[in-house]
Amino acid sequence: MAGRDLEVDLGDLSFGEGAHLLVDRALRRASAARSIVRVRGTGASWRLDLDAWARAHGHSVTHESEAAIVVATPHGSGVATERAGLARATDPGAVHDAPPLRWGLAARGAQVEANAPEIPFLLASKRMVWADEAARLYAQAVAQQWDPAIAIPWNDPTELPDEVEDAVVSVMTYLVENETAALLVPARFLSQIHPHFREVMQLLAITAADEARHVEVFARRASLRRGGEIGRSTASGQRSLSTLLIEPDFATASFLLSVLGEGTFLDLLWFLRDHAPDPVTAEVVRLAAQDEARHVAFGLAHLSRHASEDSGLHARLAAAVERRHANLGDEGGLDPGVLDALVLLAAGSWEHDAIRRGHAAVVELVRRMDDGRQQRLRRLGFDATEAETLSSLHTRNFM
Ligand SMILES: [Fe+2]
Ligand SMILES: [Fe+2]
Repeated sequence: MAGRDLEVDLGDLSFGEGAHLLVDRALRRASAARSIVRVRGTGASWRLDLDAWARAHGHSVTHESEAAIVVATPHGSGVATERAGLARATDPGAVHDAPPLRWGLAARGAQVEANAPEIPFLLASKRMVWADEAARLYAQAVAQQWDPAIAIPWNDPTELPDEVEDAVVSVMTYLVENETAALLVPARFLSQIHPHFREVMQLLAITAADEARHVEVFARRASLRRGGEIGRSTASGQRSLSTLLIEPDFATASFLLSVLGEGTFLDLLWFLRDHAPDPVTAEVVRLAAQDEARHVAFGLAHLSRHASEDSGLHARLAAAVERRHANLGDEGGLDPGVLDALVLLAAGSWEHDAIRRGHAAVVELVRRMDDGRQQRLRRLGFDATEAETLSSLHTRNFM
């Protein structure tokens, strides 16, 4: 006979009070393919309750005068299970290339019952979403979360000349709508990712939280001195951003948003930090840039990995840039008012020489943005000519 005979004395502990825990524990201790447990009790209905519990778990019971004999079926319920990969992503082979949909919401590494329902996650292959860097970037994001109420010197008394305040408000208004697009894109794909790719799911969730904070601080800076009177939203800006929202594919959406858009935004945020006329503006863009750098890093990491496994990816990414450019035509431009605001912030005054310097600084910013895009494109494996062409087709709206 396999397994060991174990004795369980329930005393007067009833099944309504948790007696099944002791029987179940004894069966698991016996743990062999066919284990037997001898149960005694003094409660009023323990034999009837034991029968009902055992039936529900697929065990059989025979009654003797002194005790009841419970014979366990393997795994209790009799339903077969399989392990959903290994719990830790760092273990070799832990993360499956194509986890079954029936693993669904189960913790990676859990024993999943074979009759679990299939949950139709659309992004269910490692190739489409994974980056080994996701766990590190998620941990970094958690450690670097900042509280807008504490991190930003909102009570700083700096009063700006009206026209400089106008420039800041105009840029902040523009930033809010761009950050809103940057929130909605990862949030949309988040619900499509198979939870087996936990670190990626977590990273997209905290990315959405980062963007929520960016929306908050830019909106708050916009109305800091003007109350509800903030800046303008242009049709061309929204037209450009709306093309990101409808991009159906995770790879092309991440490419357009993170590698091209957020990468370009990093240069913009650093420019604003360097030319900020007040500490609140300087701090909101500095903290947002710190988060954006992670968003760009993840986009580059998962697309590099994806490209290494899918020779057709480069062509699809390039086609996405060309399609977006063709759809926007000349209508995806940056609000000229935002561009003028950047010149004024960099100039710092209305003196001719200052304006000349401010204008040159913005020209230099646009050149640096183009440079950075080309560098990232080359990191993804595009050659120098492709990188130059694709960068030049990127939306004038920056994001
Ligand atoms: Fe952001
Ligand atoms: Fe971002």
